[in-house]
Amino acid sequence: MWSVIDQSPIFFSLTEATMHLDGKVALVTGAATGIGEALALGLAGQGATVVGADLSWAKSPETSEMLRVECDVADPDSVRACVADVERRYGRIDILVNDAAMSSNLTPKPFEEISAKEWTQVLTVNTLSPFLMSQAVVPGMRARKWGRIINLTSATIFTSQPSLLHYISSKGAVASLTRSLAHELGADGITVNAIAPGLVMTDNMENNEAYTAEVRGQAIAAQIIPNPLQTKDLVGVCLFLVSDGAGMMTGQVVAVDGGTAVH
Ligand SMILES: NC(=O)c1ccc[n+]([C@@H]2O[C@H](COP(=O)([O-])OP(=O)(O)OC[C@H]3O[C@@H](n4cnc5c(N)ncnc54)[C@H](O)[C@@H]3O)[C@@H](O)[C@H]2O)c1
Repeated sequence: MWSVIDQSPIFFSLTEATMHLDGKVALVTGAATGIGEALALGLAGQGATVVGADLSWAKSPETSEMLRVECDVADPDSVRACVADVERRYGRIDILVNDAAMSSNLTPKPFEEISAKEWTQVLTVNTLSPFLMSQAVVPGMRARKWGRIINLTSATIFTSQPSLLHYISSKGAVASLTRSLAHELGADGITVNAIAPGLVMTDNMENNEAYTAEVRGQAIAAQIIPNPLQTKDLVGVCLFLVSDGAGMMTGQVVAVDGGTAVH
């Protein structure tokens, strides 16, 4: 027997997969620029109330699409104050995107030239931020039995690129944090997933002399789809991961890299 389409289970799951985020509150770190900004605007475009948290907004043009707050995501007091402020204003945080990192400001160099101080700084900022932010937002998500946490790792954890040992090690840690935290939060209706972009030439990356035309060309040549990645290419997967339809997907690292890392 055929059942009518609007009573079928398939129909309902497709409905859940739509990405309207009206009523949801999203906190996006690193939203002043680059990928974080694109993800924040993408979430706002689907109806979410978005708060962007960054160290500085000085170079970022005003936008009505998100509230901008200053926060050092590697400082426990700053993170606690930021989350408390957002919850006071909007009553909740449903979606956390941990994008802020020491990334485009790093100069690739042989591992012998990375000082212990630099190693500690990169590892600290890049791994403490998703840890501290998650600790701060999870109590509210747990109480509501719904939450979405997205961490930005990097496709370099799959391709083993040389000369950024501190950065790649930090992003490997973010992938591990994602998988382990997913275990701790799954029973509370909170999913934790990571997005692993390939090389995306953001404004900051354009200003980094290490990313020459040759380096960019090599990155594109390694992709199955030979187009330069843009910040907008990360938005679709983020919107899917925060949707109700992705409620049974957790602990995953999703590469958005034009097919460089096939796994
Ligand atoms: N651009 C790429 O090619 C690429 C590739 C793979 C992964 N990623 C990852 O994607 C994310 C975004 O990359 P991007 O290129 O847009 O980065 P970006 O360097 O252009 O921007 C990072 C943002 O994070 C903010 N930030 C840094 N430290 C902070 C702190 N302590 N507190 C608050 N904010 C802080 C910066 O002010 C900046 O606005 C990063 O996690 C990065 O590692 C980027």
